Amino acid sequence: MIKDLEELQKKAEEELSRAGTEEELLVIKTKYLGRKGLLTGLLRNITSLPTEERALFGKRSNEVKDILTAKIEDILQDIASRKRDETLLRERIDVTLPGRGIRYGRIHPVTQVSREICDIFAGLGFSVVEGPEVELDYYNFEALNIPKDHPARDMQDTFYVEENIVLRTHTSPVQIRTMEKQKPPVRILSPGRVYRPDSDVSHTPMFHQIEGLLVDRGITFGDLKGVLTFFIKKVFGEETAIRFRPSFFPFTEPSAEVDIQCVMCHGSGCRVCGQSGWLEILGSGMVDPEVFKNVGYDPEEVSGFAFGLGLERIAMLKYGVSDIRLFFENEWRFLEQF
Ligand code: FA5
Ligand code: MG
Repeated sequence: MIKDLEELQKKAEEELSRAGTEEELLVIKTKYLGRKGLLTGLLRNITSLPTEERALFGKRSNEVKDILTAKIEDILQDIASRKRDETLLRERIDVTLPGRGIRYGRIHPVTQVSREICDIFAGLGFSVVEGPEVELDYYNFEALNIPKDHPARDMQDTFYVEENIVLRTHTSPVQIRTMEKQKPPVRILSPGRVYRPDSDVSHTPMFHQIEGLLVDRGITFGDLKGVLTFFIKKVFGEETAIRFRPSFFPFTEPSAEVDIQCVMCHGSGCRVCGQSGWLEILGSGMVDPEVFKNVGYDPEEVSGFAFGLGLERIAMLKYGVSDIRLFFENEWRFLEQF
């Protein structure tokens, strides 16, 4: 019987020396040491031994069990550490390789200019409001004194969504929406996207405007000139020459477009300003009494001025960009300059 035990130990050790995986080890462990295993089988025959030999046999089988258990444990640890080494090798990082540069995002130049302008007007007590880009014909045109079939509609080519719904062609409808909701005084600024079927070096089908509206008792054209001059000098510098040129908008009377001296040629005339030396940056005027009537304001009691500026136009002049389409191509080599 002791011989059987030694035989069993030898065979088990042999099999263990060939085992390479955890699974194989477990099979061997169960085969020899399991509850129905070979060692247990031998022990079950202990009763067939003479009494005096039983103690020795029991002791020896326990030793064999301990030896085999320890061996299995050892091999398991070997396998684990081999696995760890393989993983480390596989996931090795070469810390001497040069890093991949992180490219930082930045605020789009049009947004930068918009924020700058909003800040300037915030300093003058204007607050920022927003309006819908998909707009009723009524707000985009009719309430602004541009009736259907009026020739003034030709001034702004229009994307129609439905018969009475348009993509707003300017931010001026926000004037109406604001005055409908609020009694004078009004002092608001409204930046946002607007749409017109236009496309060339200075026109895109989507662009940004900022609308301004100030209504109170006793507001004059002098206030309009003062506020706009202050704002333009803040954005383009104290030395900038400014020109108020008579113009026409159905919702303002009188109306003026504001030009600044061309930032490219400083007034001598070039391609950018069409040889005139001047560049138009905004439309403005005193709010037409008809518009006040449409929102229930009394034109005998209050007066005000409004303006609408093209943000891309201002960004182009400020940064010397000669093609408006660059702003919307999302080319990082262009955008990263701002
Ligand atoms: C208007 O849109 C008026 N609502 C402005 C206004 C507001 C006048 C309040 C009086 C009182 P105008 O169509 O001129 O006006 O457009 C204003 C500015 O938007 C232009 O000076 C120009 O800078 C810019 N703009 C017009 N069309 C485009 C376009 N397709 N792409 C880029 N900028 C444009
Ligand atoms: Mg214009």
